[in-house]
Amino acid sequence: MCGIVGYVGRQAALEVVTAGLRRLEYRGYDSAGVAVLADGVLATAKKAGKLVNLEKELGERPLPAATTGLGHTRWATHGAPNDVNAHPHLDDAGRVAVVHNGIIENFARLRAELEERGHRLTSETDTEVVSHLLAEEYSACGGLAEAMRLVCRRLEGAFTLVAVAAEEPGVVVGARRNSPLVVGVGQGEGFLASDVSAFIEYTRDAIELGQDQVVELRRDGAGGPDATGGTGGADGTGGAVAVTVTGFDGLPAEVREFHIDWDASAAEKGGYDYFMLKEIAEQPKAVADTLLGRIDGSGHLSLDELRIPPEELREVDKVVIVACGTAHHAGLIAKYAVEHWTRVPCEVDLASEFRYRDPILGPRALVIAISQSGETMDTLMALRHAREQGSKVVAICNTNGATIPRESDAVLYTHAGPEVAVASTKAFLTQLVACYLVALYLGQVRGTRSGEEIREQVRELSGIGDAVERVLETMEPVRELARSLSSRNTVLFLGRHVGHPVALEGALKLKELAYMHAEGFAAGELKHGPIALIEEGVPVVVVVPSPRDRAVLHDKIVSNIQEIRARGARTIVIAEEGDEAVVPYADHLVRIPATPPLLQPLVATVPLQVFACELATARGNEVDQPRNLAKSVTVE
Ligand code: F6R
Repeated sequence: MCGIVGYVGRQAALEVVTAGLRRLEYRGYDSAGVAVLADGVLATAKKAGKLVNLEKELGERPLPAATTGLGHTRWATHGAPNDVNAHPHLDDAGRVAVVHNGIIENFARLRAELEERGHRLTSETDTEVVSHLLAEEYSACGGLAEAMRLVCRRLEGAFTLVAVAAEEPGVVVGARRNSPLVVGVGQGEGFLASDVSAFIEYTRDAIELGQDQVVELRRDGAGGPDATGGTGGADGTGGAVAVTVTGFDGLPAEVREFHIDWDASAAEKGGYDYFMLKEIAEQPKAVADTLLGRIDGSGHLSLDELRIPPEELREVDKVVIVACGTAHHAGLIAKYAVEHWTRVPCEVDLASEFRYRDPILGPRALVIAISQSGETMDTLMALRHAREQGSKVVAICNTNGATIPRESDAVLYTHAGPEVAVASTKAFLTQLVACYLVALYLGQVRGTRSGEEIREQVRELSGIGDAVERVLETMEPVRELARSLSSRNTVLFLGRHVGHPVALEGALKLKELAYMHAEGFAAGELKHGPIALIEEGVPVVVVVPSPRDRAVLHDKIVSNIQEIRARGARTIVIAEEGDEAVVPYADHLVRIPATPPLLQPLVATVPLQVFACELATARGNEVDQPRNLAKSVTVE
C-alpha cells in the first residue's frame, strides 16, 4: 500500500529514488511522484499511472541535480489516482514536501482547521494536511525532525511519513505508526524506504524502526539544528550521514540494526518476463529453504524460534489461525494438519472479520498469524486483539523485522526470499510448509504423534521440493490450455478436504490476474446450489484427492466430476500419477506427483498458479501488477 523512498547522500538523488520506486512499485501503482532539494528549492514531478509515466515526464522535463530527495508510488485511498492527488504534497509556500503511506483518520478535522487558518489545500488526499501542518510547526520550531514529532502527535490512524524541507538541505526525516519504514545505512548516504528492496542495491545494512518513532538522516555539515543522540552513521567520500531516532515524544529510542541476507539479484526478474514466473520457478528452493535448520539429523523437529515453552504448548486447548487472502487459504489447509496431527481444535478466521465476531480466546488459545508481508493491517489488528485477550501469538512471516512478527510472541520465518509479484505464489507454498512444521511440532511436543510418524511426514516434506520441480517441468500443456480459454468468462474450481482451499486459491489467482469470474467450491456443496452455474462448455478445474488413502473421498469426487460433465462442463482434472479412475471423465488431465494427502496442496496449487499466470498473459493483463491491487495492504 504505497511505496516510499527517501535519500540523502552523495549520489544523484533522483536516480536513487526512482530506482527505489521501481523496486517498490509492487506496493501500489496508481500514480508516482518525486521531489528533490536543490539550492534551497524543492522541485517536484508527479504523474498519474505507473512509474513509467513519471519517468517519461522526468525525461521531458528534468529536475535539477540534487543529493537529497524523496519519492512515492501510490495505491489510492483518499482521492482519485490523478496527477494532483499524487505524492509528494507540499504546503502553500513549497517549503516542505511529504510522502505518505497509510490513512490519517482525523484528516477532515485537521483540514478544516488548516483552512480556517487560511491554508489552501489543493488535493483530495489526507496526506496534504501533513505538509501544511509540518510547515506551520517548522516555522515555530525551526527543525524538521521536531516539527515531525509535533505533527505526528496530532495524527490519528496508520502512517509512514517521509519529508524534506527547503530550509534543511541534507536532511530527510521519516516517521512511522502501524505502517512500515526501514532505514538503510550506506557509505556516506542514508535511505528511508517502505522495504529494504528499495536500497538493497546500495547497502545491506539496515535499521528497523519501532512504533511511533521519528528518524532523521542528516548529512555531515547540513544546516539547521544539531542532531543529538545519533544512533548510527557511516563515513564515506561524501562525509557521514548521522541517523537519529526518537519517539514521538522526543526521547531517544532503541533501534535494532540488521544485515539483509539476500542481494539485489534476488529482487530482479533474472531473465523471466514477469516476477510471478520467476517466483513460481523458485518454489522448490523456497520450500527447501523453509525446512532448512528446522529438522535435525534424526528427523526430529527443532523449532527454537517458537520460544513458547513445551509445557505451555501442551496446555494449548485451541489453535486459531488469522490471515487474509492467499495466506488465509494456507490457514484453511493448516487446519486439517493441526487437527489431524495434534487433535487440538483449530479455527481459521479471515483476519478482517476476527475481532468483530468477539472470538473466545484466552491464555490457552494459540493464535497463528500468517502474513507474507508482515504488514497487513487486518492481520495486525487481529493479532493485537488476540494478545489483548491473553493469547500467545506465533507469526508465520516472510519479511524480517516487519510489524506482525515484532508484535508476536514468536515468529517462524518462511524463507521464500523477496516476493515482488502482487499475486502470492512462493510465499503461499512456504506458508504451508511453516504451518505443517508448527502442526507437527505441536504433535511432537504433545505426544499425539509418534516419533516415527513425525519422521515419516518430515521425510515426505523434505521430498516436496523435488515434487514441485517435477510439476514445473510438465506445465506446457497447462499453459496451452490456459491460452485456449482466454475468451471464456467463467472458470469454476472444485475440491474436497485440503483440495477445497486449493480450489479457493486457484479461483483467487484467476480473479486477481485474469479478471475473470472464478469461484472455488467444496465439491460436495455443488448440488446445494452452485451446480446451477454449470452450462455447456464451462471450464471446471477439479482437484482430486489421492485414491490411495482417501478412497471414499476419491470416489465421491469422481461422482461429482460425472455430475458436472453430464451438464456440459469441460473438466480439467488435477489428479495424482497413477490415478486411472479419473481418466474417462477428464477433458484435460493434469498429473501431479503422489504425496501424502495432507501435503497434496504443495503440488496441486502449482498448476493453478501457472494456469492463472498464462491466462492473464493471454488476456493482455499486467501479470505482476494487477489492476486495483497492491502487494502490502496496510489499511483496514
Ligand atoms: C493474493 C495475495 C493476497 C495476500 C493477502 C495477505 O495473491 O497475495 O491475497 O495473500 O493480501 O497478504 P500478507 O500475506 O502479506 O498478509
